[in-house]
Amino acid sequence: MDKFIIYKSKLSGEVSIGGSKNAALPIMAATLLTDEACVIDNVPDLRDIRTMVGILEVLGKEISFEKNTLVIKSKKSRKFVAPYRLVKTMRASFCCLGPLLAKQKKAKVALPGGCVIGPRPVDLHIKGLRELGADIYVDKGYCCAQAKSLLAKHIYLGGAFGSSVLATANVLMASVFTKGQTVIEYAACEPEIECLALFLKKMGADITGEGSPLLRIKGVKELSGCNFKIIPDRIEAATFIAAGLATGSKIKITGAEPLHLTSVLEVAKNMGASVMVSRDSDLFIKPKSFIHPVNITTLAYPGFPTDLQAQFMACLCLGKGISLIVEKIYPDRFMHVAELNRMGAGIQRSGPYAVVEGRKKLYGAEIMASDLRASAALVIAGLAAEGKSEVSRVYHIDRGYENIENKLEKLGAKIKRVKQ
Ligand code: EPZ
Repeated sequence: MDKFIIYKSKLSGEVSIGGSKNAALPIMAATLLTDEACVIDNVPDLRDIRTMVGILEVLGKEISFEKNTLVIKSKKSRKFVAPYRLVKTMRASFCCLGPLLAKQKKAKVALPGGCVIGPRPVDLHIKGLRELGADIYVDKGYCCAQAKSLLAKHIYLGGAFGSSVLATANVLMASVFTKGQTVIEYAACEPEIECLALFLKKMGADITGEGSPLLRIKGVKELSGCNFKIIPDRIEAATFIAAGLATGSKIKITGAEPLHLTSVLEVAKNMGASVMVSRDSDLFIKPKSFIHPVNITTLAYPGFPTDLQAQFMACLCLGKGISLIVEKIYPDRFMHVAELNRMGAGIQRSGPYAVVEGRKKLYGAEIMASDLRASAALVIAGLAAEGKSEVSRVYHIDRGYENIENKLEKLGAKIKRVKQ
C-alpha cells in the first residue's frame, strides 16, 4: 500500500485537467449497446476505468487502452453476467444493467454493497427499469433483469435526495430501443449525463433535453459505433482550485470547462479569491491574503457538488471565521472530519451539518484516507499544514485522480509517494 509524504507547500504555475472519470464510466457501459467498434478519447487512466475495462471484457468486449484512448470492439460471444468480484470494487459497474437489458433482453449484475460515504441504494435504478417493463428480482446478491421487449413510458425518477446520476444513466440507456417515446422526468442534469446522452446520439440514438431534468427518448432500431471525446473532469479541476485556495497560491488551470464549474467558482469568489476565465477557457485563481468563511450546501447539478465537499472543507479549516457545510446528497459523507481535526482543524459535525471554525494553522500529522474525495481533501490539508503529513491508503485517490502527485509536484508541491 502506498502513502504520500507531504510538506507545507506554496504552489505556482499551471496544471492541465484530464478527462472525466464519471463521464467515461457510463459511456464505457453504453458501448454494450452496439456490436460495432467505439473509439473514446480523453479517458483518464485510473483504477476505476481499468475495473470497467475488466467488466466489459467479461461481458464480451475486446479492449485496448493506450494514451488515454479506449478502443472497444465486440468479441464473437456476448455475456450478460457482471460478477460480484468486479462490481464490489466499483459501484459504477451497476450501470451495465440498463444497456445489457436493452441489447440482450437480460442482465445479471451483482448488487453493489455498502459504501464508506453512506448508504447508496439502487431503488431508483430498479424502479425506472421496471417501469420500462423489465422483470427484476434479486437472487443470491445479484440483480437479475429480463424483458421480452421494453416499453416506452413516462417515468418520474426523483427520489428522497433528488435526482440520481447513475439511475438516470441506466434508464436512459435502457430506453434507446423502446418503441415510441420514453420521457424521464427529474433526470440528473450533471454534465456527465449530458455527455452520455451526446455519446448515445452520436451512436444514433434519438434523445432531446440532455442537460435538463426532462429527457425525451424516441426508440431507434439499432446503434452504431462512433468516435467520441470525454469532457474534462470538473471535480479534478475544482480539486486544484481548492489546493490553490488552501495554500494561498496563484495557479492557472488549463483544459477544464469553466461552464461546468459555475457553483464552484462562485464559492471560490465568496472565499475571497479572484477568478478569471480567459478566452481559451483557462482558469486563473488568485487567493486573497486570507480565506473568507462561507456556507456551502451540496446539491445536485448545477448546485455545489458533494464530490467537492471534503476538499472545500479542508480550505475552510483555515478560514477567518465560522463556515457551515450542509451535505444534502450523502449526509454521512464526513469521514474526513476526524482526520482534519487530528491536524488541528475545528470541525463539529451533527448529522448532515458540519460547523467549521477556522484556525490560523493546521499541523502535519499521520492521517488516513477513507474514500476518493476525502483523500484529496487530506492531501490539500497536508499541503497547507505546518510540517510533515503522511497520508496512508492513497489507493483511494488513485481511483479518481490521474497522476495527482506528479501534477502537484509540477506546481511546486512537496509530495512524494512511498511504499508503506
Ligand atoms: C454519482 O454516483 C457519482 N459516481 C458519485 O461520485 C457522486 O458522488 C454522485 O453521483 C452524486 O453526484 C459516478 O458518477 C460514477 P446518485 P451515483 O445516484 O449516481 C440517492 C466520486 O467520488 N439515491 O446521483 O451513485 C443517493 O443515496 C463518486 O466520484 C437513491 O436514493 O449517485 C444519493 O443520496 C462518489 N436511490 C442521491 O440519490 C437510488 O436508487 C444521489 O446519488 C440512487 C440514488
